Formats: sequence, C-alpha cells, structure tokens
Amino acid sequence: MSKRKNHFHGSDLEKIEQLYGIKKENIIRFGANVNPLGISPVLSDTLRSHPDCITLYPDREYSSLRSSLSAYCNVDATYMIPGNGSTELIALIIQALSPQKAMILGPSYSEYERELLQISSSFQYFPLREEDDFVLGDTAPLLSALQNTLAGCDNPLFILCNPNNPTSTALTVPQLESILSFCATYSITVMIDETYVEFTKEIDNITAISLLEPYPNLVILRGVSKFFASPGLRLGYAMTSDPSLRSRVLSLQHPWSVNSFAALHAGVMFTDQLYIMRTRNLIHAERERIVERLSRISGIKLYPPEANFILLRILDPTLNASALFETAIAQGLMIRDCSDFPFLGPDYFRFCFMLPKDNDRLLDVIEQVFAKETL
Ligand SMILES: Cc1ncc(COP(=O)(O)O)c(C=O)c1O
Repeated sequence: MSKRKNHFHGSDLEKIEQLYGIKKENIIRFGANVNPLGISPVLSDTLRSHPDCITLYPDREYSSLRSSLSAYCNVDATYMIPGNGSTELIALIIQALSPQKAMILGPSYSEYERELLQISSSFQYFPLREEDDFVLGDTAPLLSALQNTLAGCDNPLFILCNPNNPTSTALTVPQLESILSFCATYSITVMIDETYVEFTKEIDNITAISLLEPYPNLVILRGVSKFFASPGLRLGYAMTSDPSLRSRVLSLQHPWSVNSFAALHAGVMFTDQLYIMRTRNLIHAERERIVERLSRISGIKLYPPEANFILLRILDPTLNASALFETAIAQGLMIRDCSDFPFLGPDYFRFCFMLPKDNDRLLDVIEQVFAKETL
C-alpha cells in the first residue's frame, strides 16, 4: 500500500470509496470544511421550481447575480466579479496580474502556489510561526519581508487566506489595513481569500470589505462552497474597486463560466437569514465545545480556531496523522492529514465541525487513540 495513500483532498470521496471499500454516502467528510446543515431550504425549493433555467444561456453581465452579491456583502455591484468557484478566480487574478514575484502567508491553501507555478511566477512563503500558534501578531517582520522581496518587481502580489486554511487563524482589520497601506506604497496587490470568513464569530473584525473602497490594490475572494454548502454549484466571486484589474480578469474569463441556475436563482440563499443564523450558531457552539473537549487530551496540541475547522499537532512521537487517519477512516470518519502543507509535518491534522453527533464520534476516536498512548 502506498505510503502517501491518505493525502486526500477533503472532497476525494470516490478515491476513499475505492481504496477503503466504504460507500461514499457513509463517509463523514471532516476534511471538506463544508457546512454540515446542507443547502439552504430556500435554495432547495428554488432549485426544484426553476429547472428550466438551464435551457437558457446565462446573462453574460450577470446583472441579477451581481446585485444579489452586492446586497449580501454591502459592496458596490460594479466591484463584483462572479466566477466558476473561487478556484477559477484565483487562477484568473493570478493570470491577469502575472506577477514577477509573489509572497504567500503560509502554510496555506495549495491553489495559490499551483497557479503561480502554472505561469512561472516566482514566489516565496512568509511563515506563520508554530511557536505563536500560527497567529501573525506584529506585522513589522512581514512588512519588511514584503519590502525586501517584492519592492521593485513587476506586478508584485501578496496572497493571504483569512481565516487561513489550514491553521484556522485570522488577521484582524487593523493588521490588514497596515498591510494594505504599506503594500499600496510599493504597488503590491493584495489578494485575500475570505472563503471561511462567514464562519468566524466577529466577521466585521476580520473581513477586509470595509477596505475595498480606500485600497484599490485589494482584491477579496469568496464563494458559496463552504458556508452555503454548495461546492457543486461552482459559484465564487471576487471584489475589487480597481476597474483595470476587473477588466483584465473579465477579458480572460470564458463567456458563461457561471451557470444559469447560479446566475438567476442562487441569490436567494443570501437572503435566507434563518439558515445563516442556524449555521453560525451551530458552528460557534461546536467550535467551543470541541476546543473544550480536545484541550483535555494530553498528547495533542490545538491551535485556537477562528473558522469552521481546527488544526492539531500530535505530540506523541509514536503516533502520526497518517495512523490517525487510518483509525478514523475505518469508522467512516475522514479527517485531513496535513503533512503535505508547507511548514507542517507528519504530525499535523485538521478536521471541520460537523453535526454534534458526528463530532462526538470523532472526538471519541481521538480520545481513545490518545488514552491508549498515555497508558
Ligand atoms: C481557502 C480556500 N479557497 C478556495 C477554495 C476553493 O473553493 P471553490 O469551491 O469556491 O472553488 C478552497 C477549497 O477547499 C479553500 O479551502
């Protein structure tokens, strides 16, 4: 059996089905970071009542979708660029900027690196420190690294994910503002991936939306895959007040890249306040409860989470994330072995917060594994 068998993306259910013989319906996806409540009931009704919309090409301007996004984010509709998931927009923004050099706050989501490699841009990571629980703290060392690495390059780019995947830590608005104003003086574009921001307790302390207007060097990415549990809809959006970046991205995008259903009807989910509130309440309650239970287990270190998932480190040298993955998957519980992330190693794993009864099953497994080890 391959040693790297368990390096799965959280959505690799078919591979798990094949390798472990577990039906994909029976796998609890602790690695996917998707809202466990499923889609909004309002979206579900809308899906059922508008099947015919796929007989039409979507509006190429996406006017109705842009106005739903604008109302949801309280951002000018002209700043909105809808895309085929945030994945498409990560690629298009990187292609549009074509940075000679980029810096990524890491460890982080691998797509940024992959896209930079595709266009042969050079990049380096600015590492969040394990000793600081992967929390940035003082921005001064980062600013000097940005200056030393990116100043004077063509179209320099700084990328961060906030809250960050996989560390679940976040930068605050004052930190973001200091980074943006510094980057503005060096013509550095800052791309902030806010895929997980709606799961945080105090969104306004973390989202950079209020900084769009004063900082045209800012581009924010979001999507509906995680919070709205709709990865199959493939809907993401970018926001920037820079008209030239918008037109460069749009000129690279294939026509109709967002499907008709997303274009015309998916906007209803943004108005489903009950679903939004239920999701937030569930995640906040489970985050607190899970942290409390995990902090009683010796043999693991947890990094306090801001998003809907948590990163942990196994301190016991006789165990690793790969072994824990095998134990958990045998019970149909799929966690994320994080050893393939930069700066992390074989002792790191991540899991997202699912329904309380499923979370309890995983916590029981983790407790049993570590109880055995400390006997
Ligand atoms: C940080 C981050 N950004 C973007 C994505 C991709 O999202 P989408 O489904 O909108 O393309 C993911 C998916 O795991 C992610 O973790």
